[in-house]
Amino acid sequence: MGIFEIHGLTPKVILAPMAGVTDAPFRAAVRGFGPTFVFSEMVASRELLRDRRSAVLRLKADTDTGAFGIQLAGRDVESMVEAARIAEGEGTSLIDINMGCPAKKVVGGLCGSALMREPELAVAIASSVVRAVSVPVTVKMRLGWDDASITAPSLAQSLEGCGVQAVSVHGRTRCQFYEGAADWSRIADVKRAVRIPVFANGDVRTPEDARSILSVTGADGVLVGRGAFGAPWRLMQMQDAIDGRAVREAPPADEAWSVALQQYRHSEAHYGTDAGRRIVRKHLGWYAEQLGLARAERDALVRTRDAGPLLDRLARGLTLAEAA
Ligand SMILES: Cc1cc2nc3c(=O)[nH]c(=O)nc-3n(C[C@H](O)[C@H](O)[C@H](O)COP(=O)(O)O)c2cc1C
Repeated sequence: MGIFEIHGLTPKVILAPMAGVTDAPFRAAVRGFGPTFVFSEMVASRELLRDRRSAVLRLKADTDTGAFGIQLAGRDVESMVEAARIAEGEGTSLIDINMGCPAKKVVGGLCGSALMREPELAVAIASSVVRAVSVPVTVKMRLGWDDASITAPSLAQSLEGCGVQAVSVHGRTRCQFYEGAADWSRIADVKRAVRIPVFANGDVRTPEDARSILSVTGADGVLVGRGAFGAPWRLMQMQDAIDGRAVREAPPADEAWSVALQQYRHSEAHYGTDAGRRIVRKHLGWYAEQLGLARAERDALVRTRDAGPLLDRLARGLTLAEAA
C-alpha cells in the first residue's frame, strides 16, 4: 500500500484519472481538503512523443500539491516506454497504464480496454514499462471485454507476475461503457486472485458507498471518479467514513464557491486566460448542480465569457440576482 503514500499517510480514497476533468487545477481543489492521492488525465503515449508541449501540460508535477500519478495510454511498447521515461522525468510518483478506457478513439487505436483482449501484449507493455522506470507502475482495468470474458482476475495475476505494484478495477465490462450498475462482487474476485493492492472503482458517490465497496470487495482502497464532480470535498468525506470518523460536513455554499473561484483562477493561469475559462466551464456547471443554483443562474455562470465576477459574488454569499 505504500506506493500511494503521501505526506506519510496512505489515503484509501484516490481521485480516478479522468480525461478532461482531473487537470492540475481540479487536482489542487481536491487536495485542498486533505492529502488525497490524485491521478492525471490520461496521456496518450504517441501524442506525448509527437506534441510534447500540450501533453506535458497534463503531466506536469503538481508543485503545490505533491505526489500524484500519471496515466499513460497506448499499445506500442516502445512509445509507452519512452512516454514513461518522460513522465518519470516530469516528477510523477507512479505511472498507471490505462487498460480500461472504452472510448472508440482509444479502442479504435487498440489501446485502453482493448488490451484486455490481448493479455500477452498487455503484459509485454507493463513489463517493459516496469523495467524502464524506477517509480512504481500500476494498471487500471475493467472487469473484461464483455460478460462472456471476465478476464480481470487472470490479467491481474499476470501483471502481478511482471512487477506491477497495484491494480484498480472498474466494475464494468468494456461493452457496458457506463451503462448499468458497477458489479462490485466481481472486483472481489480480482482481490482474491492477487497479493498486490487492489483498488475498487465504479459508482462510489457517497461516503457510505465508499465504505460499502471496501466491505463488498475486500479491496485496499477506492478510486472515485464522477462522485467528485463539483464536490472536491467528497473524497475527504469518504475517507472519514472509511476511517470510522464522523463525516465532516461539506463546506457551506460561500466557501464552496470560493473553492470554485480558486479553481477558475488556477485554470486561467495554467492554460492561459481564454483556454482556461473554456476548460473550467464544465466544472462550474457541476458546482452549480452540487450547490443547488437555479437553472437560470447556472446558465448565466456557464455561458458568460468571464465567470470570475459572478463566482466572486457567490463566494461572498450573495445570490446572482442580488449581484446583478
Ligand atoms: C469524463 C470521464 C473521463 C474519464 N477518463 C478516464 C481516463 O482518462 N482514464 C481512465 O482510466 N478512466 C477514465 N474514466 C473512467 C473513470 O476513471 C472511472 O473508472 C469511471 O468513471 C467509474 O468510476 P465512477 O463511477 O467513480 O465515475 C473517465 C470517466 C469519466 C466520467
